[in-house]
Amino acid sequence: MNELILQYFQEHEGEYVSGEELSIKLQCSRTAVWKHIEALRKQGYVFDAIPRKGYKMLTKPVIINAAKLMQGLQTKTLGRVVRIYDEVDSTQNIAHTLVRQGAIEGTLVIAEQQNAGRGRMGRNWFSPKGKGIWMSLILKPTISMQFTPQLTLLVAVALCRAIQAHIPHQVGIKWPNDLLINGKKISGILLESSAEDERLNYVIAGIGISVNLLAEDYPEELKAKATSLFIEKGQLVDREQLICDFLLQLEVLLELYTQQGFAPIRSLWEALTISLHKPLRIQTAKGWVEGVANAIDEMGALWVTLPNGENIKLYSGDIEL
Ligand code: BTN
Repeated sequence: MNELILQYFQEHEGEYVSGEELSIKLQCSRTAVWKHIEALRKQGYVFDAIPRKGYKMLTKPVIINAAKLMQGLQTKTLGRVVRIYDEVDSTQNIAHTLVRQGAIEGTLVIAEQQNAGRGRMGRNWFSPKGKGIWMSLILKPTISMQFTPQLTLLVAVALCRAIQAHIPHQVGIKWPNDLLINGKKISGILLESSAEDERLNYVIAGIGISVNLLAEDYPEELKAKATSLFIEKGQLVDREQLICDFLLQLEVLLELYTQQGFAPIRSLWEALTISLHKPLRIQTAKGWVEGVANAIDEMGALWVTLPNGENIKLYSGDIEL
């Protein structure tokens, strides 16, 4: 049925087609027509709907183009092997399986849609079809486990710089690695690692960027706190180019980190963050903490001064928006 509807819109390109016309053509009820349009919207088709006039198809889903991606790559290692999937549970799961099967460093897994996208702190990650960048990158840094928080901040700096190149609005890092525009979340990072005797075997850097989602794509509970590059900029953003930009930024920063350690990354992170020197409420594994964050230290931990003057350090948590 969806195929027939698409064909009909194709034949009437640029025109409004009424629900009644479609229901006669397809021999179904107008409610059924509406349900099919909604299903197509979920697949990334964009329709304008005007009461008493009908529906006009504005755009079709754009599929990430592997050839265009490879052409745009300026990296030596990162993204040189790419696997693009239409629909997966989570790109993290695919990347974990691939790395266990011997996938090389820099292998990138991308999906048009995730049905069980994972966020930090056990949350779900909303990953509708064709609208975002949902990807997982295999890294094999030769550092010990205790330095993983540094890597988290490094990935956030790379992503912040890459996104900033696509939008005039200020992109800020909310500790540890959420990216915000106008106070709303645009992107999130989930680092999952495997280690033995304190030595990291590998890290899977999961990156979600809300690129071309429309306001109506978001479920009610996300509308107030999440946004997309399209919503903020009013223009579609080239997903392949953004992926290439991120991989290049990340490779450059990883090289800098290997040569000069965490100090330059820390300075870059501090310059891009919106989380320092103001009162915060932070959800940690042990409960809520209130205080003022002053700095991140040489290990990547956040130092917070509590109301009683005591200083504590946090390695993970979630700052209330
Ligand atoms: C967060 O902010 O909570 C982290 C979100 C990470 C989402 C990405 S999307 C690609 C990769 N696959 C997942 O299941 N999660 C990460």
